[in-house]
Amino acid sequence: MASSKLTTKSLTHDPSHYAKTFSVYARLSAKYQVLATWTDTVFPSVIVDKLSPVSNAEEKLNILGIGSGTGGMDCNMITQLLKKFPSIANTVLEPAADHIEGYKKLLESKGFGSDVDFNWRQQTWDEYYKECKQVNQIKKFHFISAIHSLYYVEDLESTILDLINCLEEGGVLLMIAVSDDSGFWRLWKRFPMFADDLYRQINSGDIRRILDTHQIGYKAITQESRVDITCCYEDGNQDGVLLTDFLNHVVNLRECSSQSFVDEVLSYMRGEDCTVQNGDQLLFNNDWQAIIVTK
Ligand SMILES: C[S@@+](CC[C@H](N)C(=O)[O-])C[C@H]1O[C@@H](n2cnc3c(N)ncnc32)[C@H](O)[C@@H]1O
Repeated sequence: MASSKLTTKSLTHDPSHYAKTFSVYARLSAKYQVLATWTDTVFPSVIVDKLSPVSNAEEKLNILGIGSGTGGMDCNMITQLLKKFPSIANTVLEPAADHIEGYKKLLESKGFGSDVDFNWRQQTWDEYYKECKQVNQIKKFHFISAIHSLYYVEDLESTILDLINCLEEGGVLLMIAVSDDSGFWRLWKRFPMFADDLYRQINSGDIRRILDTHQIGYKAITQESRVDITCCYEDGNQDGVLLTDFLNHVVNLRECSSQSFVDEVLSYMRGEDCTVQNGDQLLFNNDWQAIIVTK
């Protein structure tokens, strides 16, 4: 392996660069389209139908989003949940101010009105849970989602157990992460030096193993998805620069590493472990897995 002359930091250290790279990735992976289809076709039967009706007519369905980002997926889920539960109280944990702003902007076009209350909390999961424990008030939720955000928690195992502890009896936890045979996972495994104190390279297999160890039942559903990474190999293509950073989860890979190391990363990304060629397109394997626990 070539020397990285490593001065890279994970994207989590630079929220504004993170937001830029994420938006290129979302566009080139049709991320929200795939998630929207999943929410329309799979989510109703594996989650909404499993949620018991709330115990009295006055009670709202309490839901918690961990790392909700700009809310694209959360709003789709809320739309489905409203078909069964007329009134929802939604707590949103999101440390990035820009993402909360983006989520609020998106809501302007959703027309949820007074059917959904929002409790905005600009903080990480660890900050939130520590605060709850300090005041000895662990709020319970009927539905909790952590969609591509468990990479950022301090300890995956204790977080999963704590999330289950935060579920009401009959409640449902949805966790989504890159799948253990995705291109993402192979790329991260090949370059473990990109992980740091704010970001850990985990996959859906890690989540399943923790649940197995604790003999907690779950349902796992894999979703195929591809990202077109052709632009990463076009000289001067700015989308390609940002997408390379997002896939590797680093800030400015090309500026912070030796040319030989960048070449090695780019070559591995397009290799058969991670990518298939389709005509002129290079399609990176972006498969993810949803893991669902019902309490
Ligand atoms: C990959 S994005 C996913 C966003 C959204 N869930 C989606 O699927 O579109 C990860 C999100 O987690 C947030 N995040 C980062 N660290 C976090 C932490 N420790 N706790 C909760 N959320 C975190 C980021 O700000 C970002 O919005």
